[in-house]
Amino acid sequence: MSRLTFTRWLQQSPVPLPQDLIQTLQITADCCRDISAAIARGALTGMLGQAGSENIQGEDQKKLDVISNDMLLAAHAQGGHLAGMASEEMDDPFPVTTHANSRYLLLFDPLDGSSNIDINAPVGTIFSVLETTPGSNTAEVTPFLQPGTAQVAAGYAIYGPATQLIITVGHGVDAFTLDPDSGEFLLTTSGMKIPEETQEFAINMSNQRHWEAPVQRYVGELLEGKAGVRGKDFNMRWVAAMVADVHRILTRGGVFLYPLDSKTASKGGKLRLMYEANPMAWLVEQAGGSATTGLVRILDIAPTGLHQRVPVILGARTEVERATSYHA
Ligand code: AHG
Ligand code: MN
Ligand code: MN
Repeated sequence: MSRLTFTRWLQQSPVPLPQDLIQTLQITADCCRDISAAIARGALTGMLGQAGSENIQGEDQKKLDVISNDMLLAAHAQGGHLAGMASEEMDDPFPVTTHANSRYLLLFDPLDGSSNIDINAPVGTIFSVLETTPGSNTAEVTPFLQPGTAQVAAGYAIYGPATQLIITVGHGVDAFTLDPDSGEFLLTTSGMKIPEETQEFAINMSNQRHWEAPVQRYVGELLEGKAGVRGKDFNMRWVAAMVADVHRILTRGGVFLYPLDSKTASKGGKLRLMYEANPMAWLVEQAGGSATTGLVRILDIAPTGLHQRVPVILGARTEVERATSYHA
């Protein structure tokens, strides 16, 4: 059976994509394939474990966090179709000056869920593409500070039993699986859809005592199961990699919460808006789901910082609406 390659998919988008955007997404996909290979070899090449450094968020970096970041920077700096990049692992933006007319900005979490690396559990790469005016100063953060509604492409690669690439350019969500023989990403699901209702939720339950009242109430009702107000039993899953938890929701439904809690309140939450929450929120909305902070739609937030954090509730529309209504 012959399947559509990612390269062909880019070329036959319902609304034709500009060449620079096609190249940007192709280079990103090729780089994710190479990151997947680097991760697969990690234990053989001594690349597991800590790098011995901290990122701007004060988090310990894994060797593979740094390697994945460097691979994306190198691929795009050589490719030259971007105006600039920003990443979880870099304090400041990385301007690209080799291509004067470039107007695309790439923001990424080079390795999401990196605490899973050493236990051979799923991790991923999350990315978001924005557009700026050619010639804008991409050494500054200002061109990057655009709301999620301004994204022109968003996606992630998941490095699990299979390596997959999930993407939207604003016409639904499609999934590609890496064929290890040809090295090509081949279309395996077109038009991913999140069912409106679900019986599965994802949250780090160990933070329960730190949550605010609306989340206590929402999750409390889920835990009461059939005997409670919801009248049905719920199942819980937590992979501890947003990529994998969101992938499950895009594949078979569910709701994901990383809410505000008393441990992260001073920072605004745990997950980062620009390269975690925004791309995932757009993918989820494109698949028929919703994404809020509990108070506002994530995609409408006017960002104030590159590494800004936000509470995240996303997935099945009716569940997100219910959890959000408890915050009102
Ligand atoms: P990262 O590895 O890029 O720092 O992201 C980890 C994030 C996210 O992927 C996941 O949902 C969450 O942190 C896991 O948090 P807990 O440690 O609270 O489970
Ligand atoms: Mn992450
Ligand atoms: Mn990361």
